[in-house]
Amino acid sequence: MTRTTDFLAPARLGRLELPHHLVMAPLTRNRAEADGTPTDLMVTYYAQRASAGLIIGEASTPNAVGQTYPNVTAIHSDRHTAGWRRVTEAVRAGGGRMFLQLQHGGRVSHPATTGLTPVAPSPVPLPETIHTPEGRQPAVVPRELTTDDIRATAADFAAAARRAVDAGFEGVEVHSANGHLLHQFLAGNTNRRTDGYGGSPGRRVRFTAEVTEAVADAIGAGRVGVRISPGTTVNGIEEDDTAVLYAALVDRLKGLGLAYLHIVHADPGTEVYRRIRADWPGVLIGNPVLPALTTEAVGRAAHDMLAAGADLVALGRPFLANPDLVNRLCLGAPLNPVRDRYLMYVGGADGYTDYPALGDQPSRPSSDSIVALDTGRVARSSRATSSAAPSTRTEFCQVTLARSVFDQPRSSSSAMRFG
Ligand SMILES: Cc1cc2nc3c(=O)[nH]c(=O)nc-3n(C[C@H](O)[C@H](O)[C@H](O)COP(=O)(O)O)c2cc1C
Repeated sequence: MTRTTDFLAPARLGRLELPHHLVMAPLTRNRAEADGTPTDLMVTYYAQRASAGLIIGEASTPNAVGQTYPNVTAIHSDRHTAGWRRVTEAVRAGGGRMFLQLQHGGRVSHPATTGLTPVAPSPVPLPETIHTPEGRQPAVVPRELTTDDIRATAADFAAAARRAVDAGFEGVEVHSANGHLLHQFLAGNTNRRTDGYGGSPGRRVRFTAEVTEAVADAIGAGRVGVRISPGTTVNGIEEDDTAVLYAALVDRLKGLGLAYLHIVHADPGTEVYRRIRADWPGVLIGNPVLPALTTEAVGRAAHDMLAAGADLVALGRPFLANPDLVNRLCLGAPLNPVRDRYLMYVGGADGYTDYPALGDQPSRPSSDSIVALDTGRVARSSRATSSAAPSTRTEFCQVTLARSVFDQPRSSSSAMRFG
């Protein structure tokens, strides 16, 4: 892939042409039916965000025991497949394209939610309470997976990937981040195994590698991405050898011809990021650390992520609160704030499908934000906002506004005055 810092320029992901470099990160929103089937509301929510270059659909469990919380999505039954197909069709109709994230929660699960004892590499419980249909409950001690269970779980991921493709997804993202099952195998504090899946970094990366290989065999490596979160402590994870661990993982994965590697909270200032970028031969998606959820901060972070060698930029909360995020960044228009953290994971339309796009609200991009730019660009951006706000890919903001703004050196950028 040709490198650019222009996040609004067209991009490629394998055989997919993307209209720009911005990817919607997977966001669990707990709006599925109790059995994990996507709802009508979810169809609307994802269709609203079809202008993302790629949407990575929220973490979906490949089997019953992998379910994390109530009302999260699943992809292991015909009903799930049919429900997701409605989502991908709506997104495609809006000009978009989707991958689906496959997530097994491992010890991040509860019998009150699944009716099953959670499973994990070792019987080490989550050191936190966990959200269940009966409220927050202490986590239980998970059952240690046998080697047969490990093989069966990889097969479940492969079957889920086949279903995802059948449902119209372009591919899947294997979730090996944020303290879920695959990450529990990577980290020393959750993986106490003494067999071929525990001990040295080379053994701890084996399960993620085998799941990824099984999924790649099922649907083709070019349809498979992997998400990692080196150094995170989310969900009680403690890695004491992050640099070596991820070097080993990249080494195992780099020959597979995968669609991409995706790093959560990718920080170009860290040695681990620089090493992964240097060692990973394919597309790297960086999910940058955002200092603020403003137009300026998000645009700057996206620019800097590409400048640090990422090929695509994933954004989570900015897409959550702004169905027309790309258009807003292009126009230099203000972003909707995330309204209520509670509504991220609970509720119906409230805090979900009711975030307005520019044309839906009385306040257009403020004249102040446009005044900050030079006259030529003002004229073009004014034209772009004079009628109903662009919301489809073809209507997508044509101005080169943000691209020229964010390419300027930080100190002299007029963009510092908006957002
Ligand atoms: C409401 C919410 C749900 C999330 N769900 C997932 C998920 O399903 N899978 C995942 O890998 N990360 C998940 N994340 C993490 C995001 O993908 C992303 O890494 C994080 O929000 C940081 O990006 P941001 O600063 O652009 O929001 C979630 C984050 C939030 C806020």
